[in-house]
Amino acid sequence: MSISPGTAVHLPVVVRTPADLNEALAPTRAGGGRVALVPTMGALHGGHTALIRAARTEAGPGAAVVVSVFVNPLQFGAGEDLSRYPRTFDADLELCAAEGVDVVFAPSVDEVYPGGEPRVTIDPGPAGRILEGNSRPTHFRGLLTVVAKLFGLVRPDLAVFGQKDYQQLVLIRRMVEDLCMGVAVVGAETVREDGGLALSSRNRFLDAEQRRHALVLSRALAAGREAAAHGGEHALAAARAVLRDQGRYGGVDVDYLELTSPELGEPPEAGDARLLLAARVGTTRLIDNTALVLGSNGSNGSDDRAGSS
Ligand code: PAJ
Repeated sequence: MSISPGTAVHLPVVVRTPADLNEALAPTRAGGGRVALVPTMGALHGGHTALIRAARTEAGPGAAVVVSVFVNPLQFGAGEDLSRYPRTFDADLELCAAEGVDVVFAPSVDEVYPGGEPRVTIDPGPAGRILEGNSRPTHFRGLLTVVAKLFGLVRPDLAVFGQKDYQQLVLIRRMVEDLCMGVAVVGAETVREDGGLALSSRNRFLDAEQRRHALVLSRALAAGREAAAHGGEHALAAARAVLRDQGRYGGVDVDYLELTSPELGEPPEAGDARLLLAARVGTTRLIDNTALVLGSNGSNGSDDRAGSS
């Protein structure tokens, strides 16, 4: 890390074990400050930055912002990209330093899963089997299990997640509510590149041509949002038309495009809804989603509206 003289940089404390984590957070807890957690798998980008800033704002004065960096094997299925998942710890640390993060918690797999796979895991329930869960049947079990573990280790007052992974956000909220975990969950809006592509750690696998093709995802969502005033069928048809016109020749293989309620149930006739999609571009699987308002005469022009945040 290069730090120019005279620049006040707040270096995060890097901890690798639960004991060191507790020690690092002790002064904050003793002083009555809140602890805010931003769970990540590293390979940090502007989306993560927005989460860190939201954590700081939400947590208030005297708080400690903790970023966890842990590529969780339990949420990757066989044949998924666990081994090629990007690991960029030095750059992650620089980003955390620039954002004034207090503690970076980067445990090893053995530290998180000392006895190998845990005997007790979290069942995500029915909403874990639809959408992403359909093609990734064990994904949300592994994901909720690690988030529950991180909550147990960090004991945060609040935790920030992105709307980019909307089903993940809904399931985490539901877990916290159903299991009375007492953590305030904050949902932050999706950060996008200028062309609309949602930032993702996996975007680095796209070459220039694939990156252009990937723009069809956010374009389809925008078309759906614009047509939403005419109802759900119109929204879906408009999104599908964009995917069909541009996707067919663009190497974009759509896994699903679905319209749901904000809670991932049946979409309403009118009112708040969510449009979600997943597609493979080359060998890279991308997901995206948007809030929309069905059957309203109001504008559907802005991006990710409050949704479930
Ligand atoms: P990861 O993919 O690293 O994402 C960490 C957090 O950043 C998630 O809450 C995700 O929704 C958010 N995020 C990613 N891209 C974003 C974007 N473009 N705009 C806004 N937020 C964005 O999601 C995970 O890790 C893991 O599943 C985890 C929750 C850490 C559990 O292992």
